[in-house]
Amino acid sequence: MARNQPIGIFDSGIGGLTVANAVSGLLPEEEIIYFGDTAHLPYGDKSAESIQHYSLRITDFLLEKNCKLILIACNTASAAAFETVEKYLNGNVPLVNVIDPVVEAVAADLSIRKIGIIGTKGTIKSGVYEQKLKALRPDLETVALATALLASMIEAGFYNNSVSQAVINSYLAYPDFSDIQGMIMACTHYPLIEKEVASYFNQRIKIFNSNNLVANRVKKTLEQLDLLNDARQNPHHFYVSDFTESFEQTTKIFFQGEIHLEHSPIWE
Ligand code: DGL
Repeated sequence: MARNQPIGIFDSGIGGLTVANAVSGLLPEEEIIYFGDTAHLPYGDKSAESIQHYSLRITDFLLEKNCKLILIACNTASAAAFETVEKYLNGNVPLVNVIDPVVEAVAADLSIRKIGIIGTKGTIKSGVYEQKLKALRPDLETVALATALLASMIEAGFYNNSVSQAVINSYLAYPDFSDIQGMIMACTHYPLIEKEVASYFNQRIKIFNSNNLVANRVKKTLEQLDLLNDARQNPHHFYVSDFTESFEQTTKIFFQGEIHLEHSPIWE
């Protein structure tokens, strides 16, 4: 493996660009190959079996592109397919997900005694956050809620406005959330509504969003393997399995800087 090989990042669509954005901000010398499975989004409503199947094919695509590390930049895919992809890679290529770095940060924060978790139906139904949190902090109370509307609402451009605040407020009024000290934003789209969630709780709780924690995990993993690049030679590439103008427009919400999506029909 060589330092100048790219980092492979994948998501169900374009929400994972928030994670790619954090990685490129922290590691500007790294080349990124991004794959958004826009032909199959949303993953939030798909079965674990389907997501595992898609994730393995995308992993092959990223391996064909010679990636030195793979990052699953989607909570739903991290919940459903991390173990499957990990087994498939068999230790040959390092694999990072968006769940473990957050779970570790929450577990290490002893001021948190009860934590809320919001995410897609798939992520919440998997129970993966609760399992991983309890393994590290058996005393921690968890309360999880599937907030199915939020990802599509944000993609449609509804955040930081009265409509989004009303939808968010209605989810967060869930009675079990009334005494939490922190909230895990368990979906790649949710960094965009962080302020609104904080404001619902009058800035009283800590918000855990994975992006910076995950970018740091990528850096640490590459450092340990002596694989950090010091001079990027190639531009990033952003591939999608189904291309529309509207997807390209929406990238602006999630990634700072202009992005050109390339169509890679890996399912045909
Ligand atoms: N990227 C997904 C996640 O983080 C949300 C969008 C979807 O359902 O595909 O869970």
